[in-house]
Amino acid sequence: MKNPKTGKQKNIWLGFHKKDRLERIAILKENNIITPEFSDILENNVNLSCDTAGQMTENNIGTFALPLGIAPYFIVNDIEYSVPMVTEEPSVIAACSYAAKLISKSGGFTVKIENRKMIGEVALYDIPDFDKAMEDILKNKNDILRIANESYPSIVARGGGAENIEVKILKEGDTSFLVVYLTADVKEAMGANILNTMLEGIKPLLESITGGKALMAILSNYAVNSLVTSTCEVDFSLFSNDKAQAFNIAKKIEMASKFSKMDIFRATTHNKGIFNGIDAVVIATGNDWRAIEAGGHAYAVKDGKYSGLTEWTFDEENNILRGKLTLPMPVASVGGSIGLNPTVKTAFNILNNPDAKTLAGIIVSVGLAQNFAALKALVSTGIQKGHMKLQARSLALFAGAENEEVDIVVEKLLETNHINSENAKNILKEIRNK
Ligand code: HMG
Repeated sequence: MKNPKTGKQKNIWLGFHKKDRLERIAILKENNIITPEFSDILENNVNLSCDTAGQMTENNIGTFALPLGIAPYFIVNDIEYSVPMVTEEPSVIAACSYAAKLISKSGGFTVKIENRKMIGEVALYDIPDFDKAMEDILKNKNDILRIANESYPSIVARGGGAENIEVKILKEGDTSFLVVYLTADVKEAMGANILNTMLEGIKPLLESITGGKALMAILSNYAVNSLVTSTCEVDFSLFSNDKAQAFNIAKKIEMASKFSKMDIFRATTHNKGIFNGIDAVVIATGNDWRAIEAGGHAYAVKDGKYSGLTEWTFDEENNILRGKLTLPMPVASVGGSIGLNPTVKTAFNILNNPDAKTLAGIIVSVGLAQNFAALKALVSTGIQKGHMKLQARSLALFAGAENEEVDIVVEKLLETNHINSENAKNILKEIRNK
């Protein structure tokens, strides 16, 4: 295991979650995981300014804060990362760190990225002869690609640009479309603006070639040319002294993975758990989480049935549980809000400024880790034990507990069998009346 910044082998994370916020930032700073410019941002909790926010979106009246945390222990392709995560949900970051720590004992995650291209489409209708139109588009492919590239010359200058077109005829009842799919290499960008500009650029030519009308020209978030696969192996013999119990959990995780392919009610929650982690990193890195969610859920139905996105198989002979997650992950390392939001820049600094592909690999690995932690809890202790322990803190705050009252309310709440806001309020009342 090699940490690119610390170069250290020692476990600097032990007890990290028990420290206070400034102590945690100090650990990041002392171990060169964050540079002073960005640790200052965290220490002073510098956020997006209203001036910048007002330029980013419309009718601005303020900014909206969410908790930012760190999930350490991530080893991805032999490099160690501490992953910034933004989430309002208790236990997500704890679960992710827990899984990453266990998985790091078996070597961490291996990521494969075959491609990093974006697809967009122009839908044409009212075409006099669909077959001839299709033939003519393919004959004029080079001209279409040239015009696409002329519409967005800066991406060509950066070594990317429009690369291919494919054509399909879609027919349902009396409605037919001829769809032209354009594939482009968008380098480090997410690519929406690049693709949309190119597609609008080629629209008039496509109308003139086909004699039809363009209904729309738009990027697709079904980014199947940006698939990322993360795999991991978990050596269950390292898990506990009770080997039989550990193997039983591994077998049940395999069953849970199969169950998520069979039942849509489970598949939806299974995938929600995966996106607990994925969204948290996508948001922390200033990327478009709606695009990533839409692409992920569409990919979950690629075989015609909405299914759980991960696969876990238990190799009983070698006591190894193998996990795999493949997802479209067209995240960017530049563009959008990435350069504007100081917290996003800080997240990139903590991750050692990864390029788009590296970031995509980290994010898919986080999804796999998150799913592992949830499944392990679900098939053993149940989710409430770990989750509610951490949820108790939110309940105490919600009840109005302040400063040292929070710990007392949490402790007393966990002693009861009813971890709910009503109980938290009663406990707080009791403490204050003493
Ligand atoms: P534990 O065994 O009590 O943990 O598990 P531990 O005290 O032995 O600590 C082990 C490591 O976990 C620590 O390492 C930390 O990395 C991490 P160390 O620091 O000692 O080197 N850890 C924490 N990190 C930050 N803050 C903490 C903390 N505690 C442990 N407070 C744990 C406790 C919560 C991790 C475990 O019970 C768990 O993973 N539960 C699953 C919780 C979960 O999945 N939550 C997600 C939200 S629930 C949901 O919405 C999704 C779901 O519906 C999806 C689905 O159905 O698939 C479940």
